[in-house]
Amino acid sequence: MNESPNLVPEINSNAKKVDDDSINIQFDPSHSIKQDDKIELNKSKRKINDSINDDNSDSPPSKKKQEVNSIKCEEDKPTTSLPTKKQKQKEMSEKFRYGNFHRYYGNRLKGLQRDPRLDVFNKVWFQRRNVLDIGCNAGYLTLSIAKEFEPAWILGIDIDSHLVGVARANIRHYCEEKEMIGKFPASLALREEEGGPTVKKFPNNVWFRRQNYVCLMDEEIEQAQEEYDIILALSITKWVHLNWGDDGIKRFFLKAFKNLRPGGRLIVEPQGFNTYWKRAKTVDELRETYNKIEFKPEQFKDYLLNEIGFVSFEELGMPQANAKGFERPLQVFRKEVYKGENRKKVKKNS
Ligand SMILES: C[S@@+](CC[C@H](N)C(=O)[O-])C[C@H]1O[C@@H](n2cnc3c(N)ncnc32)[C@H](O)[C@@H]1O
Repeated sequence: MNESPNLVPEINSNAKKVDDDSINIQFDPSHSIKQDDKIELNKSKRKINDSINDDNSDSPPSKKKQEVNSIKCEEDKPTTSLPTKKQKQKEMSEKFRYGNFHRYYGNRLKGLQRDPRLDVFNKVWFQRRNVLDIGCNAGYLTLSIAKEFEPAWILGIDIDSHLVGVARANIRHYCEEKEMIGKFPASLALREEEGGPTVKKFPNNVWFRRQNYVCLMDEEIEQAQEEYDIILALSITKWVHLNWGDDGIKRFFLKAFKNLRPGGRLIVEPQGFNTYWKRAKTVDELRETYNKIEFKPEQFKDYLLNEIGFVSFEELGMPQANAKGFERPLQVFRKEVYKGENRKKVKKNS
């Protein structure tokens, strides 16, 4: 087995505490008021104080003074035009509504040099196979698989284009010196010159693309091709479920089934329903969707086997985790190894 790559700078082990696959979105109120706004606020306060000091009479505050005082009180309160802590937190929740956290692996791995899930996967399932990693985030797991498990190729997709950019940039951290040309992986140079990968060896076997895997139209699902031997859907079902509801997660599963070749495996790491509310309550649309959910994660297994059409199921050992909430079962669903009328056999356990 190849050595695990060094952790890359984007992994931040100082990141804040988590209790599920989500990052606690913290907001620093000192950043809520922009510097320019602060200057303007101070200027207008000074003006008002000056006008109060001009009035030297002992008499009860004149109407003018009362007005001024009331203005001062308003000024002392945060104005509605400035983002409050709550508003800013709302914005952050909206921004990360897909679980597209930028320090995900820093939180998840908490200083570990290697993702423990790699130890429970069967390398043979991946070797010389085509793999899709849905919701690859910054690409650490995808890259580890590309390097250690030697798939023919692995495509990491994510809905967040920034994360896809980070994942691409991270390829270089997994490269040995000899695989680099200057600062760049040699594979990138080859790709440009030759219009695509020719050698299916790391790092030529790994690709990242921005894509929303959830189909909104039935036609899109119908068009899905049998392309992959392994599809990874790790810690993503909650986000799909909260954003696209029962319908969305069912479509997601159906598309994955259709995208698998005969004998292919879908590996799912579902989050428990008890972790949904923490996120659902922070975004109005997610809360609405949450309230309509009838299809619970504990029903996924039956649905995948009895409605979607997978023929077998196994649960992999529980990977250890340093961070609370990440010790979740990994479930493997297998598509029938026979295909079509010919019932051509696909090599078992391949
Ligand atoms: C919590 S992270 C899990 C990362 C990775 N799968 C793992 O387990 O290490 C979920 C990722 O799924 C992505 N995601 C959510 N909905 C998606 C969708 N519909 N299509 C593609 N990616 C999606 C998010 O952007 C995020 O990076």
